[in-house]
Amino acid sequence: MIGCGAGGVERLRGELVEPAIERGWQVAVTLTPTAGEWLRAIGEVERISQVTGLACRVEARLPGAGRPHPDIDCYVACPATANTVAKLALGIADNQALTTLGEAIGTPGVPVVVFPKINATQVRHPAWQSHVDALRTAGVHLLLDDQFAAHGPRSGNAPGIPWSGVLDTVERITD
Ligand SMILES: Cc1cc2nc3c(=O)[nH]c(=O)nc-3n(C[C@H](O)[C@H](O)[C@H](O)COP(=O)(O)O)c2cc1C
Repeated sequence: MIGCGAGGVERLRGELVEPAIERGWQVAVTLTPTAGEWLRAIGEVERISQVTGLACRVEARLPGAGRPHPDIDCYVACPATANTVAKLALGIADNQALTTLGEAIGTPGVPVVVFPKINATQVRHPAWQSHVDALRTAGVHLLLDDQFAAHGPRSGNAPGIPWSGVLDTVERITD
């Protein structure tokens, strides 16, 4: 799982990580630097590591250091910021979360699910649609459909994150 610096990421453990573990998944979490700073400040980086049994990653490993996470069956970026979606679409990998997501997109057979928590102003940016098109063409499951519309780009203040709907989508596409 990847968490970005969007409102609601502070609930990542309780709303997505722990429910996924309860559904039988092993979960490894990587945060963007912004999300890492936010969650570290409230003790959540440590708590996520405790409940997953794996280091909650923010920084890249040093060359020669072992990989802290096992191979991943399915990537879920939730919440994803407009910033991370844009960089992912362009192939930018300037932090560990983007590095891992970008490699996942290039790995055949590994699903990538992205829930952008964005508002109407971000959707109206002239580059937004081309980012959406690029990611969908690459096979990314971008959760912008009607099912998620109440939480996503058509709502002015991006009110919430449909955590269980995201998890249901993961289970459907990995079934
Ligand atoms: C309190 C707060 C809430 C934010 N919520 C969002 C959000 O919901 N969606 C979004 O795209 N950006 C949001 N931002 C802006 C991002 O944090 C900012 O663009 C940041 O550079 C994203 O970095 P990241 O994509 O590496 O996590 C928020 C910023 C703050 C301070």
